[in-house]
Amino acid sequence: METFKFPSGFFWGAATSAHQVEGANHNDWTEWEESPKRVLELKTEGLNPEDYISGRASDHYNRFREDFDIAKDLGHNAHRFSLEWSYIEPKKGKFDQAAIEHYREVIKALRERGIEPFLTLWHFTLPIWLRNQGGIQSSQFPMYFERYVKKMAEAFGGDVRHWITINEPEIYALNSYLRGKWGPQKKNIFLFYKAIARLITAHRKAYQAVKGVRPDAKVGLAVNIVYFESAGGPVNYILKWAADRIWNYHVLNHTRGHFDFIGLNHYFHNRIHYGFGRNKNKKVSDMGWEIFDGSLYHALMGLHRRFNASIIVTENGLADAKDNYRPAYIQDNVKSVARALTKGVNCFGYLHWSLIDNFEWDSGFSPRFGLVEVNYKTQERKIRPSALEYKKIIATNTIPLGD
Ligand code: BGC
Repeated sequence: METFKFPSGFFWGAATSAHQVEGANHNDWTEWEESPKRVLELKTEGLNPEDYISGRASDHYNRFREDFDIAKDLGHNAHRFSLEWSYIEPKKGKFDQAAIEHYREVIKALRERGIEPFLTLWHFTLPIWLRNQGGIQSSQFPMYFERYVKKMAEAFGGDVRHWITINEPEIYALNSYLRGKWGPQKKNIFLFYKAIARLITAHRKAYQAVKGVRPDAKVGLAVNIVYFESAGGPVNYILKWAADRIWNYHVLNHTRGHFDFIGLNHYFHNRIHYGFGRNKNKKVSDMGWEIFDGSLYHALMGLHRRFNASIIVTENGLADAKDNYRPAYIQDNVKSVARALTKGVNCFGYLHWSLIDNFEWDSGFSPRFGLVEVNYKTQERKIRPSALEYKKIIATNTIPLGD
């Protein structure tokens, strides 16, 4: 069987985000989680609101060294994490030195373990003062973001080479302003488009802010790319073309020239057969999301054809508490990356979502995305078998390409 060897220096690792793992935050999300409207909605659905309050989360704020020890033991040479803006700039224009020092320690801890930091500047949560000014809808948002990013580049520019400005603008805009799922729970197409436009402007400003401080930094953004599969025929093909344009490539089309790499977050396949979502759903994760072999390959190829840019997989994973599907899922997705590399795609890393179990936004604590299981009562960590399978791939830097 043919075996593919990854280039030396290929980045292998996992990702997290501050609000989902750190614990003890105070930001727009923590207030939303406890808001009377949200609590009532959960109770009406027969759910326990306690399971939907981030609280201590995975206590990564205190346990980051232990977690990075695990990542190192698992062979990871890269890790993606995010800064908690509300902690760094708790009051408008006032930057908290202790918070900056905390992240300096986080970055140092990664470097000491030979793990390359991939720093995300914004992963969905906002300081309260900014939320009170309208959040990302505010015309001032891009300017505030730029100011914060410049500070962060000055603070960490010497130690961080890879920067991700914004995580999934489309998902955030969709869930917060069109589907009404996430705070501020709006369902308004104009606000949805405005949200995306603001995030695009904010990204462009942030890109320049980091480059202004560190011209040698590599700066990108993380986008959620769906594999839209046409079932064949002109109608389905046109639908696919439109979906790719509207969902997958809109943000990137408007940020061309303002990224050094694309961060690819990939979870979904969507089969188009005179309509969307005609998936077979033979295998599904604990979230009910379809597991579709090879979809990452198509997502990579689509991006490559359109943008011919460097790409890193910044998220790819599934909720699977029993770890039934994860070992094969990792194999399959790494195989997708390998196949794309053989086709000339410049993909320089794969970061699994997630390193540890964490707080899954409006779905709370039940979905288990971690390579490492977290017992939320004791905060004990337990390595899942899939993490060891992934470790084997990393150790050999190879993957068999056959079935
Ligand atoms: C987000 C993560 C989230 C993951 C799984 C991505 O859209 O960036 O924060 O946990 O999907 O839902």
